[in-house]
Amino acid sequence: MIDEGIHVVDRNGVTVLYNQQAGQNDGLSPEEVIGRHLLEVFPSLTPATSTLLKVLATGKPIPAHEQTFANYKGQRVTTINSTLPIFHEGELVGAIEVSKDVTRVRELSERVAGLQAALLRPRSRRGAPVGGARYTFDDLVGDHPAMQRLKEQALRAAATDSPVLVYGETGTGKELLVHAIHAASPRRHRPLVAQNCAALPEGLLESLLFGTARGSFTGAEDRPGLFELADGGTLYLDEINSMQPELQAKLLRVLQDGRIRRLGEATERQVDVRIIASTNEEPAAALASGRLRSDLYYRIAVVALEMPPLRRRASDIPLLTDHFLDKHSARLGLPRRPLHPEVEAFFSGTPGRATCASWSTPSRRRCSWPPGRRSGSAISRLPCSGQPRRRSGAAGRMRAGRGPLPQTRGFRPVSCAASWRSWSGRRCGRPWRRRGGT
Ligand SMILES: Nc1ncnc2c1ncn2[C@@H]1O[C@H](COP(=O)(O)OP(=O)(O)OP(=O)(O)O)[C@@H](O)[C@H]1O
Ligand SMILES: [Mg+2]
Repeated sequence: MIDEGIHVVDRNGVTVLYNQQAGQNDGLSPEEVIGRHLLEVFPSLTPATSTLLKVLATGKPIPAHEQTFANYKGQRVTTINSTLPIFHEGELVGAIEVSKDVTRVRELSERVAGLQAALLRPRSRRGAPVGGARYTFDDLVGDHPAMQRLKEQALRAAATDSPVLVYGETGTGKELLVHAIHAASPRRHRPLVAQNCAALPEGLLESLLFGTARGSFTGAEDRPGLFELADGGTLYLDEINSMQPELQAKLLRVLQDGRIRRLGEATERQVDVRIIASTNEEPAAALASGRLRSDLYYRIAVVALEMPPLRRRASDIPLLTDHFLDKHSARLGLPRRPLHPEVEAFFSGTPGRATCASWSTPSRRRCSWPPGRRSGSAISRLPCSGQPRRRSGAAGRMRAGRGPLPQTRGFRPVSCAASWRSWSGRRCGRPWRRRGGT
């Protein structure tokens, strides 16, 4: 069954198509709606508040509009609707509305926003460190000239208030770098607030970022958004290339004048927030495909930092190996064991194979420790190349349509240091014999 409600009206506002899911959202059955005028079925609406009637009146689409309402069964439902005019031979003949039920996601995001506000506000008032940076530059392991250059640039950027764009393949340490920049900046005693832009539908992301005023939509509370919570500190917008262009334009305005307006509120508020954004694709590709607005790019990429993938700095592998073996053996309270010689030879003897994008496995766990398997060589359990990309579930669907990076098409771009870290962690945690190793 289609999980989006579809509602089509003719030019007079009479419903001609109304699917089961639309009925579920509204608490009605299609029979109660089809053939009747909108205002007859939904008497609380008016020509000014009904999106379908507005589209019929203007001929203009209303994209990604969030709505919270009590449906006919008395359930409180939040949907994100996109309403489009239907033209036939240049003539407006009707309108279609596609609505997605995001009630649960909305509830959870409200809860997260509430928790974030509770977490950040009282402490920041007391003036205690609320920086929230989990990493510093010391945690960013790598001596390769590319890493040294990156750290120098990032340190210089940390001293300023300039927006920063960090880009690089997944797992190259973008988030780590953002934390390090915040920790090294004069804002380190103020919050570092992070939000993944791919994780939430459009309307929810907007209200989470900008906050809401009571009554801005049914059930909305007076709540600060992440810009306000990050006041004086840093707001990290991960996967900015997933943000809808309309919201990117609003972000651009904040970058220009530092002013935000909560949803449903008339007055603006001044905020002092340093923005750091990241993308997992090259800015040129994001710009070319329209996933990143060029006007936003020029504003945000005042400092653009590229995270070099591990395959371009293979000389860092021994350092990272040491780092992760130390870290995980300390964390697990186990003695540190050296790497298996076969594994060591695999990476150090053939650095070309220690590339990121070619390390491809359905999951790090499976490749580091296939459950129940006791045979096979150490190498065969490494995160090696060639497994087809497998992405399912919510994360996969969320990212569907954005397409893989060109260089990783068909493969999951497995994290570099991240993958190595998880693998070496398991090396510390479990004896070789249990893995059926040599
Ligand atoms: N240079 C590095 N030094 C030490 N650890 C690293 C380095 N790069 C990555 N890591 C490890 O890999 C993990 C993943 O890195 P991080 O989350 O910063 O990657 P990312 O680029 O943000 O990935 P994604 O695009 O998937 O969000 C980190 O928690 C860290 O443990
Ligand atoms: Mg990240």
